[in-house]
Amino acid sequence: MGSLDTSAAARSPSKRKGQAIAVPTDIAHQECINPACAARFGVEEPLFECPKCGDLLDVRYDWSRAELPSRLEAFEAKWARQDDPLAFSGVWRFHELLPFAPREHIITIGEGRTILQRADGVARYAGLDPGHLFLEYEGLNPSGSFKDNGMTAAYTHAHLVGATRAVCASTGNTSAAVALYSAVDGRIPAVVLVGSGKIAYGKLAQALDYGVRVIQVQGDFDVCMARVREVARELRFYLMNSLNPFRLEGQKTIMLRVLEGLRWEVPDWIVVPGGNLGNSSAFGKAFQELVETGLIRRPPRIAVINAAGADTLYRIVNDERIAWNQGRVDEEGIATFYKEMDAQNRRAKTLASAIEINRPVNLKKCLRALEWTDGLVEKVTDQEILDAKAQVGAGGFGCEPASAASVAGVRKLRHLGLIGRQERVVCVLTGHALKDPHATVAYHTSDAAKLGQDYGGYGVTGAPHANRPIVVADDLEKIIAAIQG
Ligand code: F0G
Repeated sequence: MGSLDTSAAARSPSKRKGQAIAVPTDIAHQECINPACAARFGVEEPLFECPKCGDLLDVRYDWSRAELPSRLEAFEAKWARQDDPLAFSGVWRFHELLPFAPREHIITIGEGRTILQRADGVARYAGLDPGHLFLEYEGLNPSGSFKDNGMTAAYTHAHLVGATRAVCASTGNTSAAVALYSAVDGRIPAVVLVGSGKIAYGKLAQALDYGVRVIQVQGDFDVCMARVREVARELRFYLMNSLNPFRLEGQKTIMLRVLEGLRWEVPDWIVVPGGNLGNSSAFGKAFQELVETGLIRRPPRIAVINAAGADTLYRIVNDERIAWNQGRVDEEGIATFYKEMDAQNRRAKTLASAIEINRPVNLKKCLRALEWTDGLVEKVTDQEILDAKAQVGAGGFGCEPASAASVAGVRKLRHLGLIGRQERVVCVLTGHALKDPHATVAYHTSDAAKLGQDYGGYGVTGAPHANRPIVVADDLEKIIAAIQG
């Protein structure tokens, strides 16, 4: 059994084997990211941390035995084979670059069919010349966020290892994606842990509607994340969070589609919001592998943008000066940082609820990605996030608050002179506008007093880019006057 019996992906990929390029999958293994440990494990083991030292794991490949095209352009041949579910998927059409599962095991619902859009209006706002800013709309995925890229890979791996139950902790989008894959696949029921009152309505609506068991834990995301690791261990549930290295393999393809959208030219910058730091980690790995396999010559620089109210990465990199340092990370420095954070009772607080995270689980992989790509970290306020979000919305499609941190980040980096006005910049818009309608409606409809009352605690005091509705009596003349006014 391979793909699902739904939509355009109705045919099992295994039936089409004859026509597909055979992808050798015995070249993959798991490996501890700590070079001092570097323990190796097979891909058939459901591990979410190194059993030897507890560090994060990577999925690694022996590229010398891989069937890789000599140029990225070769992937374009798959555009003509949309009746093959693996070519239809924006993740699996790059199967050769994440060859950990044979095609008959792959679970796909046609994820990753997203677009890269040139956005001159947003470029002007951010201070870039026309033609230099591109938006990668990951909100166009089936569950409305980038998570589907990772979830197709994680569900595939879950089947590969014979998992029977799945679990995740979430600020909302992971739970929506897990719920969707679990419901469509129908063979691995899932449970999701969310912080109570911490999750945007669109996302909660999805988890409830798709029928997973929703556990609202009295606490924040970090509490849920700590508990879910214990739950996964105790109940032997398959863990769907980005600690799972297979999820990040799927998320690598976001960058492949960015390159595809730029006709395989490497941009100068990839700008991405930072929460649990799965994306930035996956993007760094994608570019490192493309350089290693000779498919690109240089990586773009990655800029990770924190919300100012959830700025662990920013502080660790810019204030504490902690770096990957070729794998010799200052663990003690990180432990001290967290100890002080707890002692001061400093808790993440941002309207961008998707990234309201204190202890990003992929911190070390993100530090590695920053080193590989000569990256940097910036932070933006909730006011800057909501203003940037309104600019994105005004250009169509829209995005949720966390996603707009990327655009606000570019604007700030332009002001600081760290990005040039003629550099080519791609912002990753991680989630759809409809995920969090509250934030959007409040911004566009509230007067300053109401905004201050509701959002003053987040530092939001105005809505300079609001598109205010005009309230009129039921009177044709007044309606026409309002239309023409
Ligand atoms: N943007 C959105 C819309 C998100 O949902 C998330 C994370 C991020 C950005 C941050 O991405 O973790 O790769 O740095 N959401 C997770 C969740 C935590 O549970 O849905 P990251």
